Amino acid sequence: MKGKHVLLTGGTGGLGLGVTPTVLAQDPATVTIPYRNPKDVERLKSIFSPSELARIKFLAANLDNEAEVENVIDQMVQVDVLIHLVGGFSMGKTYEYSLENWKRDFDINLNTTFLVCKHSLKRMLQQGYGRIVTVASRAAVEPVGELAAYCASKAGVVAFTKAIADETKGTNITANVVLPSVIDTPANRASMGTENAHKWVKPESLAQVICFLASEAAKDIRGAAIPVYGNI
Ligand SMILES: NC(=O)c1ccc[n+]([C@@H]2O[C@H](COP(=O)([O-])OP(=O)(O)OC[C@H]3O[C@@H](n4cnc5c(N)ncnc54)[C@H](OP(=O)(O)O)[C@@H]3O)[C@@H](O)[C@H]2O)c1
Repeated sequence: MKGKHVLLTGGTGGLGLGVTPTVLAQDPATVTIPYRNPKDVERLKSIFSPSELARIKFLAANLDNEAEVENVIDQMVQVDVLIHLVGGFSMGKTYEYSLENWKRDFDINLNTTFLVCKHSLKRMLQQGYGRIVTVASRAAVEPVGELAAYCASKAGVVAFTKAIADETKGTNITANVVLPSVIDTPANRASMGTENAHKWVKPESLAQVICFLASEAAKDIRGAAIPVYGNI
C-alpha cells in the first residue's frame, strides 16, 4: 500500500483500532477515516504519533447517507484502497424483531457497503486501480438464531462483494471479503467475559489478512470470502 490513498471506514471501532496502525505501517500516502462522533477522533489523536497523524485525514460522515459518502470520496485525492469495516448487530428472536431494527441492520451492514463501494469504485475505474476489502462475518455463511437480520445482511455483503469482483474482471481492481468469527475487542470482552478471549481473532491478526488483500501483491485474488476464525 506504499504511496496509496486509503479510505478506511469504521476506523474508530474495536477492529479499526487494530487495523489503522497496520495500514499506517504499510506506508500509505494518506488514510481517510470517516467518523460520526468527534470524541472518537480525540481518542485516536491520543493514540497515534504526530507523524502518523500527519497522514490521517478525519472526515465527519454518516455512511448510510449517499451525499455524505460522495462528499468523503470527493475530498480524497485518489481512492486506491477501500477497507470497509463498518458494521454492527443486535440480537432478537425473529418473531418479535421489529421492521425498524431489521432496516437498521441492513443500513449499517449492507447499505453502507453498497454506498461506499459504489462511489469508491467510480473513482477506481477512472484511475484504473483499486483494492476493495469488505467485512462480513462467519455468521453470513453459518447463520445462527437470534441474529437473523445480521446474518442476512452480512450474507448480502458477501454476495455484493463477489458481484463487484465479477464486474471488475479484466481491470486492476479487486474486491474481496473477510469473514471473522469473534474478534477480541474491548466490547466483546465487556459483554462475553475474557474466559475464551484467547481463542478469538486478534484485531491485529485480522488486520494482516485485510492489508494483504488491500495490497498490490493480491492482484489475482478476486471475490474471495476468507474465513478468519481464530480458534473457535
Ligand atoms: N466484533 C466482532 O466480534 C465481529 C465479528 C464478526 C464480524 N464483525 C464485523 O467487523 C466489523 C468491525 O466490528 P467492530 O467490532 O470493530 O465494530 P464496532 O466496534 O461497533 O465498530 C463499528 C464502526 O463502524 C462505525 N459506524 C457504524 N455505523 C456507521 C455509519 N452509519 N457511518 C459511519 N460509521 C459507522 C462505528 O462508528 P460509531 O462509533 O460512530 O458508531 C465504528 O467505528 C463490523 O463490520 C462487524 O460486523 C465483528
